[in-house]
Amino acid sequence: MKFFVDTADTAEIRELAGSGLLDGVTTNPSLIAKSGRKMADVIAEICAVVPGPVSAEVTATDSAGMLKEGRYLAQIAGNVVVKLPLTQEGLKACKVLTDEGTQTNVTLCFSAAQAIVAAKAGATYVSPFVGRLDDIGQDGMELIADIVQIYANFPAFQTEVLVASIRSPMHVVNAAKLGADVCTLPPAVLRQLFNHPLTDKGLDAFLSDWKKTGQSIL
Ligand code: G3P
Repeated sequence: MKFFVDTADTAEIRELAGSGLLDGVTTNPSLIAKSGRKMADVIAEICAVVPGPVSAEVTATDSAGMLKEGRYLAQIAGNVVVKLPLTQEGLKACKVLTDEGTQTNVTLCFSAAQAIVAAKAGATYVSPFVGRLDDIGQDGMELIADIVQIYANFPAFQTEVLVASIRSPMHVVNAAKLGADVCTLPPAVLRQLFNHPLTDKGLDAFLSDWKKTGQSIL
């Protein structure tokens, strides 16, 4: 399973890149707005730090506008993935960009039917939002299970399942159990993956016993 980080905070990305766990980055217009910086500058900086796929989202709502923006974003760096909304216009643009050899991420996916049409449009990634489905009382993971099963039925579908809107380590574990290709994690959730209270407690006990021996390994 690949790990992407879901942020446009370049300081966070630099720090997390050092963990060796980062396979890529996803951004969206809200995250870029939060950074307070110009989108092209942020994306260029992220692409220079992380060699893996970096999603940059269009904001036009018609396919011609999306294509213009997508082509502009794609020339910022070779690892830019153009992110498009899961609308009829978005999928039209996705098909053209895919045919041009640009990587695409179709986002705001909330149903298995939407995931099917994203795969038919040749999306490199589809981003189902599990947390936002949970928020409205639905089961986000059920959607991941459906998409993984459907894509497995059709080997011609090359689209990877990129689980987005992740809120907790359990989302990551459950997505991994289902065989989803990628999880995009907010930095805080990525850090939570390392933690367990019994690890901290056990380490404290080991170190305290070790101190009593008066030894040092080197
Ligand atoms: O980047 C898309 C997605 O991960 C957003 O998550 O937490 O705003 O629902 P969230």
